Amino acid sequence: MGTLSSIQKEITSNLAMKLGLSTRESLIEAKFILEYVLKKTYAQIYSDRSINLLKEEELCIRNIIKQRLQKKPLGYILKEWDFYGETFHINDYVLIPRQDTELLIDLIFKEYKKETQMNICDLGTGSGIIGITLAKQYKNSQVILTDSSKKALIIAKENINKFKLINAKTLYSDWYHKFPNLQFDLIVSNPPYIDIDDPFLKKDNLQYEPETALFSRNQGYADIEIIVNNARDYLKKGGQLMIEHGYNQSKNVKLIFEHAKFLSIKQHLDINSKIRVTSGLG
Ligand SMILES: C[S@@+](CC[C@H](N)C(=O)[O-])C[C@H]1O[C@@H](n2cnc3c(N)ncnc32)[C@H](O)[C@@H]1O
Repeated sequence: MGTLSSIQKEITSNLAMKLGLSTRESLIEAKFILEYVLKKTYAQIYSDRSINLLKEEELCIRNIIKQRLQKKPLGYILKEWDFYGETFHINDYVLIPRQDTELLIDLIFKEYKKETQMNICDLGTGSGIIGITLAKQYKNSQVILTDSSKKALIIAKENINKFKLINAKTLYSDWYHKFPNLQFDLIVSNPPYIDIDDPFLKKDNLQYEPETALFSRNQGYADIEIIVNNARDYLKKGGQLMIEHGYNQSKNVKLIFEHAKFLSIKQHLDINSKIRVTSGLG
């Protein structure tokens, strides 16, 4: 039986050599795998790496590595992923939460005080990470999480229950088609925005994730256009729309916001100084 230290080395070298992950990426994945299998925080794991693993634990780790070496993303193997400091259930029908999306949350937390009462909508919620993170923070607000995938909404509901939220609910809707007669203070979305016809796209990296969560027609803008062009019908006067988009889409997204007559349009940089979020007031 191996020690924690030897197993960690084995995981990282396998991931680096056979999958081509960077040292940093393989260390992060090893951390997730060990936390998941040993049901301990990394600080607890790190406090004594000379302990021997149980046979079942080692088998479980080897099974995870076997699947991972077939290029299945770790999130889909573990069926959970972290976002904004919490662990969310995921399955094959939802996007694996991206750290990039934390920018949307940072911007909203900076702008709206915890006590604010709002009607919030998370359009295209997937596993529910955005809407749920907002519902946890804004307990006086009501949050609607929408998606056109019933299978995604099952996971979003599981996550609402996991966090025991009474101010969040799901709605099955193709963008605004089944919207309630309600005006929102804040509509937020991380829509599909990758150009489905991009000849340079390395689709094999994304082969496990649902196409409808990633790709959009019209050079990646088709869904953004529907969302922006119709949002003002569902926003209170002065209500805000905030969307994530690709790093190379900021100019066109700004034009779409302008064309839809949004006011106070702002564009927000991520830590790499790329514009990844555009917002405007209705
Ligand atoms: C990029 S994923 C974002 C998921 C999640 N919000 C996140 O940030 O991880 C886009 C989501 O939009 C949903 N979606 C795609 N087309 C849609 C439509 N026509 N109406 C509503 N949701 C849609 C997908 O099912 C997917 O869950």
